Amino acid sequence: MSLESAALARVKPSATLAADAKARELRAQGKDVIGLAAGEPDFDTPDNIKEAAIKAIRDGKTKYTNVDGIPELKDAIVAKFKRENNLDYKPSQITVGTGGKQVLFNALMATLNPGDEVIIPAPYWVSYPDIVLLAGAKPVIVQARLEDGFKMKPEQLEKAITKNTKWLIFNSPSNPTGAAYTRDEVKALTDVLMKHKHVWLLTDDMYEHLVYDDFKFFSPAQVEPALYERTLTLNGVSKAYCMTGWRIGYAGAPEMLIKAMATLQSQSTTNPNAIAQWASVEALDGPQDFIPKNKLVFQGRRDLVVSMLNQAKGISCPTPEGAFYVYPSIAALIGKTAPSGNKIVNDEAFATELLEAEGVAIVHGEAFGLGPCFRVSYAASNAELEDACARIQRFCGSLR
Ligand SMILES: Cc1ncc(COP(=O)(O)O)c(C=O)c1O
Repeated sequence: MSLESAALARVKPSATLAADAKARELRAQGKDVIGLAAGEPDFDTPDNIKEAAIKAIRDGKTKYTNVDGIPELKDAIVAKFKRENNLDYKPSQITVGTGGKQVLFNALMATLNPGDEVIIPAPYWVSYPDIVLLAGAKPVIVQARLEDGFKMKPEQLEKAITKNTKWLIFNSPSNPTGAAYTRDEVKALTDVLMKHKHVWLLTDDMYEHLVYDDFKFFSPAQVEPALYERTLTLNGVSKAYCMTGWRIGYAGAPEMLIKAMATLQSQSTTNPNAIAQWASVEALDGPQDFIPKNKLVFQGRRDLVVSMLNQAKGISCPTPEGAFYVYPSIAALIGKTAPSGNKIVNDEAFATELLEAEGVAIVHGEAFGLGPCFRVSYAASNAELEDACARIQRFCGSLR
């Protein structure tokens, strides 16, 4: 009898975590590798947040807490949703989990049955389809095209909805493309959802603070208040507050869904780390001035990377509105031969050959459901980015 469960057999390990792990491994072996695969800011967690955690430890706040979050953090999240998104939630409509990923996991596990469908625009964050599969439901992938700025069109959404659709997972700014939907583009999609009352919306706003060139972020329930009663608004401190390792994510949603998610969490991980929760209170309630500063740094890096990649032979790199990723196309390079003699048959081969030849770790596009492309995370120093892009240029120039 196989040890592996049927649920496990439906999923694969995270491709982004695997690519990052590979880069770390090669570096540990002494190889000269620049890792642009990780999805986390390279900035350190601000000191006031660290101090709040140290104080929590000193004050003995080291015990179990309420399963889905301490009241102080729920209050800070309620205030954040009001302040930044003009969304009114009560503390009973807030859940806190071990990272945005657990909150997403709880929401999908608590609601999906076999036969249910979840619409996921591609390129997508790698965890969406796999969590849906783990829950026994069916991911319905909608291909957002490069020529549409990697954004799903309302007609595409309309076409994908069936009577079995339970959720649309919406992510703007997007991991992996950095594409962000304007207010009008969000409205065009919520208009479609208004016609289909059985479809719930899971909006992943994790990168809301990382938008550039005066782009204005809008969360869907803010744009279409009538959708509020079937929307889960997901967010967290990982990206904007440089707190990926602290593992705190949260969401606001109708109370019955929040309760169901807490039930699930009570039988899995119990409360998220108590100390990290206190640090997150400080993150949300404390000074926010480092966020625009980090944003400016990221914007400069985005411009650098887009410009240098577009100078690489055969690469076409759109300028994204947000996050810290770019998603260039390598359609013109498929079929070429690398210096090793191997053919670039797809984007995965491109990633492998690039790592071998030049020591640059990126993630291939097929992992995100749309190729032939690759994802570069520009959460690295300017010097590293310049070096990496020069290596990519050299690699592309060497393809025959
Ligand atoms: C789009 C998106 N949503 C959610 C998450 C999860 O973040 P967390 O680290 O809080 O689990 C990530 C992390 O990479 C992400 O890119």
